[in-house]
Amino acid sequence: MLTIALPKGRIAKETLEKFEIAFGEKFVFEDRKLILEKAGFRFLNVRNQDVPTYVMYGAADLGVVGLDVLEEKQYDLIKLLDLELGKCKVAVGLKAGEQIDWTKSLIKVATKHEVIAKKYFEQKAMAVEIIKLYGSIELAPLVGLSDVIVDIVETGLTMKQNGLEVGPTIMQSSAHLIANKNAYYAKKDKILDLRKKIEATLK
Ligand code: PRP
Repeated sequence: MLTIALPKGRIAKETLEKFEIAFGEKFVFEDRKLILEKAGFRFLNVRNQDVPTYVMYGAADLGVVGLDVLEEKQYDLIKLLDLELGKCKVAVGLKAGEQIDWTKSLIKVATKHEVIAKKYFEQKAMAVEIIKLYGSIELAPLVGLSDVIVDIVETGLTMKQNGLEVGPTIMQSSAHLIANKNAYYAKKDKILDLRKKIEATLK
């Protein structure tokens, strides 16, 4: 049995569709159930940011998660395969027409991605105050909560419709299949077979 933590929502659905193609079985979470067991797999329906935690502690052997979330957690996990889902980037967002003022002594950055944002500005020798938010990040510069934001950009529409523009890209992200290190060595054959079958659905 392989236990796989999936992030609630679209990515879970699209990942299960790949499993359906790979294994010829229907995989659908019933109503509000958080566990789906079928055909030798146990899928867990968890919050996006919690996927690496389930995998790190070995509660799940595998997980599906965006590279941006992995980067935030800084856990020692194995990246098995790029599922080419949920493609987006993490970028700086600024008020339209503004530039990052690198001469300022401190920049205030609103973000869900604290680690990524801090690292980006510190690497550029800029002192940074991180203002942690959990959503609707685009609001922050508009109401004076922060100078800029660091956020996910997919189409760029949310920034545009809120009077912001997309600034420098910090990293590209997409959903990856990840593994717990111990689980990987203990169940290597099963995991590599799974990777091969899922990889074949990407072509
Ligand atoms: C994400 C992100 C942006 C938006 C970007 O938000 O934080 O707000 O998607 O997408 P776009 O470039 O296609 O407009 P999400 O939908 O996860 O909601 P949140 O604001 O609650 O985090």
